[in-house]
Amino acid sequence: MQSGIFVVLEGGEGVGKSTNMAFMQDYLRQHQIDFVHSREPGGTELAEQIRALLLVNRDEKVADMTELLLMFAARAQHLANKIRPTLAQGKWLLCDRFTDATFAYQGGGRGFDQALIKQLETMVQAELRPHCTIILDAPVEVGFARARARASLDRMESEDLAFHQRVRQTYLTRAAEMPDKYAVINADQPLSQVQDDIQRVLDGLIQQSQQSK
Ligand code: TMP
Repeated sequence: MQSGIFVVLEGGEGVGKSTNMAFMQDYLRQHQIDFVHSREPGGTELAEQIRALLLVNRDEKVADMTELLLMFAARAQHLANKIRPTLAQGKWLLCDRFTDATFAYQGGGRGFDQALIKQLETMVQAELRPHCTIILDAPVEVGFARARARASLDRMESEDLAFHQRVRQTYLTRAAEMPDKYAVINADQPLSQVQDDIQRVLDGLIQQSQQSK
């Protein structure tokens, strides 16, 4: 069965994910690559409703386990109704965040055991993993300053510096453990250089997908 390329963009708060995701989409369009863009949590109507439940600031304390399971519930819906069908059609799937964010935020940030998250990953995704995860990396203070300049902070953005430092560290540790599946890009450099680095990663994937045809 043909399968498209699954590319994920990750990073902490304020590292420039949106700008660079737009750049990636433009780049694939220029290369006439048929792709679908999506995001997590979210990507389908129901999964977007779960996203809204997760991110809104509320008086009731959200239990860490509730947060973890809702992330995977949204993901199960997204996989069934969008990710798997897209890849099965041979299209690329560009996703703003995926399970690495769960390892980083619920694992690193909230303190869940990585082994437990791995169990859920296998239960929900079976064998499916992204071909490549691009991590935009910047010191937490840099991203924090950018995120805080925005109008309002959601429930996750409102966590403290130490939480976001653990998030960053978890991304970097996972990337170091599986270097062939990750590209860590320094997001604390001029945008044109960030985009040159992203372009190199995309060129490699385009080449890879042409060779496997
Ligand atoms: P963003 O994609 O707009 O940055 O917002 C999504 C937020 O949700 C972000 O703070 C990271 C968080 N998140 C998790 O905590 N776990 C997850 O598994 C995912 C996909 C996102």
